[in-house]
Amino acid sequence: MLTYEQAQAKLRENGQLHLLKYYDELSELSKEKLLAQIDSVPFSFDDVGTVDDDIEPIEAVSLAEIAENRETYEKIGLEAIKRGEIGAVLLAGGQGTRLGCDTAKGLVDIGITRPLYIFECLFNNLIEVVKKAGVFIPFYIMTSVINDTQTRTFLNEKNYFGYNPEYVKFFVQSSFPATDFNGKILLKSKDSLALSPNGNGGWFESMNNAGLDKDLEENNIKWLNCFAVDNVCQRIADPVFIGAVLGGKSPDGRPFDSGAKVVRKSNPAERVGVLCKRDGKPAVAEYYELSDEQMNARRPDGTLKWDNALTLNYLFALQSLKNLRGVSLPVHKVKKKIKCLDDSGNPISPEIENGYKYEILILDMVHEMNNCLPFEVLREYEFAPIKNKEGVDSIETARELLKKNGVKL
Ligand code: UTP
Repeated sequence: MLTYEQAQAKLRENGQLHLLKYYDELSELSKEKLLAQIDSVPFSFDDVGTVDDDIEPIEAVSLAEIAENRETYEKIGLEAIKRGEIGAVLLAGGQGTRLGCDTAKGLVDIGITRPLYIFECLFNNLIEVVKKAGVFIPFYIMTSVINDTQTRTFLNEKNYFGYNPEYVKFFVQSSFPATDFNGKILLKSKDSLALSPNGNGGWFESMNNAGLDKDLEENNIKWLNCFAVDNVCQRIADPVFIGAVLGGKSPDGRPFDSGAKVVRKSNPAERVGVLCKRDGKPAVAEYYELSDEQMNARRPDGTLKWDNALTLNYLFALQSLKNLRGVSLPVHKVKKKIKCLDDSGNPISPEIENGYKYEILILDMVHEMNNCLPFEVLREYEFAPIKNKEGVDSIETARELLKKNGVKL
């Protein structure tokens, strides 16, 4: 751990000396806590540069092609699952600020006549594949320092909704400190920085930091299916998706090292990121990066050219993820309301945004892959994200889709 003098030097170098303002008032234990935090967090917060516009659309494997090849894909996928080569990674470290829940999102009950938790929907979906394949799939769950204990306790109490606990492993994602608008790190209390989960792009590094790289090796896992907590309808470790990626070839003849489940946009201007190519590599174009012309461009058959809307359900080859070690992904800053101490050392809960949180994003990991197969899924059956309190992408809209999928609420 850093000594006081070392911490002071580090902070001075980075213009963050104010973090030691209350040091002399602290107990020995609190002093240690603060020095440990200063030691463990990064201090460089370069924002991502502006993106160039050298992007081109890519073709998805369409619903029609999938229907035609379903049996072949499913066979390849199921065989890989049976060989134990597939692991599932649940990204559950987010804070769900838009939904405004006071627990981890997975604990939210979306049932009507019976309890039906978000986590339960995901376990149920995975269990369907387990039944088909006849083997359990190693299931890794990423939490954050904020929701780790709560998540573990809840799932333990619920007996992992019928999943074999031996196949469930947790890991905690890393945190980044939040700053004010001038880049000064905020204090949450006199002995603690205002830390927040470092985004959904840090999962593989956090998995390694937790020692799970050994677990992946020992289990001979070759692919990881990584997905968001809030899409309650998505198929996880979907054998058809896995088979399409493992059995397919990219247009340049190389095997795929990643794939992404995508849906068709509901309208050209929908505010979603689309999977495309940038500088010859797979990439995500945010809705605001597309020109009007690109947004409305159509293929001869009338479908939109830029409509591989991402659902945050990816398949990554483990080897390519390992190659990412040492690659520093861009850090994005997002304006947020951050609970912190004011200048006089009093705790505040701001009503308006008062600073930035910093995040690395999974979409930047995709850009480091050789290629990425967009795999089309039907919006009505596989895309029911719960993001907002009401309106689009809310519990209400998810319930509608669950009903369509035959799930009793
Ligand atoms: P979102 O981008 O929707 O973020 O996460 P969120 O934190 O859940 O919700 P808001 O933006 O605060 O309302 C997409 C997925 O990435 C995970 C989330 O748990 C969700 O599964 N995620 C996000 C993490 O695991 N860690 C993070 O730091 C951020």
